[in-house]
Amino acid sequence: MKRILMVCLGNICRSPLAEGILKSKVDSQKYFIDSAGTGGYHIGKLPDSRSIAVAKKYNIDITDQRCRQFEQSDFDNFDMIYVMDSFNMQDVLSLARNKEDRAKVKLILNEIFPGENVDVPDPYHDSERGFENVYKMLDKACNVIVERLENGEY
Ligand code: 4NP
Repeated sequence: MKRILMVCLGNICRSPLAEGILKSKVDSQKYFIDSAGTGGYHIGKLPDSRSIAVAKKYNIDITDQRCRQFEQSDFDNFDMIYVMDSFNMQDVLSLARNKEDRAKVKLILNEIFPGENVDVPDPYHDSERGFENVYKMLDKACNVIVERLENGEY
């Protein structure tokens, strides 16, 4: 069982979408996918209604998800930790205890733009279009992740 964690700031907009999209593409017997936020503003809440709506548009239901905060034990409980932007990267790395922890953390869009360190823009203060844009980026990145997982690269 491979365990993959998606991380953003609030765990209500981007990482719930990343979790839902990746879950929709892999066998749940082989992969455990979860998400968390570096901030603790929305703990226990549903994803943002705009994330729920864009996921639903593509036939993905993310209403089973509840917001939780990233914690140090996530380094033990996950094999790979995908962050959405460089702030999330800094926040997650600040909790890393050693180089094994640090090696688990990757910027998700580096899967499609290797080495370019492109952020998934935070759509919280944006319109529905922002959420659609985020969905499309994450969908492409998740396609590459699935390909690499299935090829045994990860
Ligand atoms: P997310 O977006 O990190 O993609 O979930 C945000 C949601 C809420 C807040 C920030 C970012 N907030 O500050 O409440």
